[in-house]
Amino acid sequence: MTFERSATTPFADDTVLSEAYIPNELRGRDNELNEVSEILQQIIDREEPFNSFIYGISGTGKTVSIKYKIQQLQKALSAYDDVHATFIYQNCESINSSYQAAIAIVNSFLRGSRDRPEDRITYDYLKNGLSTDKKALPTAGLPADRVYSLFFELLDLLTYKNTVYCSAVQNAVEKKSYPDLEDLTVTDIIGNKQSDSLQSILSNLHEQEGITPPSEVRDYVVVVLDEVDRIGTRDELLYEIPRSRANGRVDSVTPSVIGISNDIAYKESIKSKTDSSLRLKEITFKKYNVEELQEIITQRAELAFKSGAYDEAIIGFTAAIARKNGGDARYAIALLQKAGVKAKQLEDTVVTETHINLADEEKRRDRVYEVVEDLNEHEKLLLAAIVYHNIHNETPISRTDLYPTYNQFANQLLESANVSRRVADYLKEMSQLGLLTRENAYAGPGQSGFTYDIDRVDYELMIKILASANDRPGGLLPNKLKKAYERFINQQSRPQ
Ligand SMILES: Nc1ncnc2c1ncn2[C@@H]1O[C@H](COP(=O)(O)OP(=O)(O)OP(=O)(O)O)[C@@H](O)[C@H]1O
Ligand SMILES: [Mg+2]
Repeated sequence: MTFERSATTPFADDTVLSEAYIPNELRGRDNELNEVSEILQQIIDREEPFNSFIYGISGTGKTVSIKYKIQQLQKALSAYDDVHATFIYQNCESINSSYQAAIAIVNSFLRGSRDRPEDRITYDYLKNGLSTDKKALPTAGLPADRVYSLFFELLDLLTYKNTVYCSAVQNAVEKKSYPDLEDLTVTDIIGNKQSDSLQSILSNLHEQEGITPPSEVRDYVVVVLDEVDRIGTRDELLYEIPRSRANGRVDSVTPSVIGISNDIAYKESIKSKTDSSLRLKEITFKKYNVEELQEIITQRAELAFKSGAYDEAIIGFTAAIARKNGGDARYAIALLQKAGVKAKQLEDTVVTETHINLADEEKRRDRVYEVVEDLNEHEKLLLAAIVYHNIHNETPISRTDLYPTYNQFANQLLESANVSRRVADYLKEMSQLGLLTRENAYAGPGQSGFTYDIDRVDYELMIKILASANDRPGGLLPNKLKKAYERFINQQSRPQ
């Protein structure tokens, strides 16, 4: 087979559907963006910055909004030569403590992997200033004190003098020849306060090249800890960064922190732990409504698809699905992307509701798959029991009626079963995960409370997961269920 450009691709530019893409304009976030601006505005105004905690459920635009506003602020800052700010964005998704977060941030500088050009130019310079000769800190083994002192040492180095100013001097020296400076490194030139002649050469250089001397510039460092709930209760960094100046851990820069999370319990725990000295401002991102979702989807679809390659009706249709999924903009954008791929596979030239539906089904299935795979063995067998009763049209079912089946399955396959009380917890958890529907069927004293059912059962998928669960041959698929399922399939395929 030879490769040829697909004639039917609906995409004009599918990169705008990726998570990394930051739109030119954010729709439906006016209040939220204004609140974020208020905090960042303090930097432009050379004020004492607030710290903030941003909360909102998944897909409400927290990450994209903060990145967008920081971009804007960076552009605006170039008009002021008496403020300098460094932004450190750290996603804590795979980080489980403040200790690990501090290491990850220090390492991003040691490795020179920051993406801002000015950070790259001066990264050697910063590295020289840090009291470690390591190329990267190990992720375990160093005492916590050492890690935090390196972390704050790093923040304290992130001054105008060490970054922008340093590279401006370096560029000036390279551009023109200053015979007196020729044999000196930038560190020697900037760091040498003793030599009067050097100082006067420097002030000439400031004048000639229009460089602002460091004494006039106020330095801010903003540390953004995204998905900060992942660091759990080991969250010292959230409190230590705002206090670091008062505690004397830094003195050249003014640090502040922005924590972001979609975990409501975590938000509450932060609130109860913080006092007013932290100056912590809380910002809540609201769920998107259908109209806002439509605007976001329209904006993306226009850029992602060729003109005429999508049916306008998909906008409202996709927005309605995304709204049902908690007003999640990420889900909406993912549907566009998957629907485009479906259309292309089917060699359809126009993306329609049919493709969105296919995409939604596939995404829902992926989600169920992930959730079910993560269940423990007893929960999986409980699920097997409910599927079993569902096949026999015996659902909704109470815990009392379900228990014997679970008990039998668990004794057979795991050689032990949990007590009924424990099963109640599992059922509750699985309902919260959205795998089961739970209804209050309280029928008076002495009667059991809830009944459970499986909404829209994806038998095939669940049977597959059960069959491949753990290492035993046959997995966690009880024989009784396997037979019931085979009978069910046979009935389905029999002509009516
Ligand atoms: N107002 C908006 N305009 C355009 N695109 C948006 C808007 N809000 C969110 N998006 C897009 O939706 C996706 C999800 O947004 P984002 O990553 O900011 O969500 P989040 O609130 O950080 O979610 P999580 O809590 O899961 O991290 C991203 O692709 C983002 O670009
Ligand atoms: Mg996010």
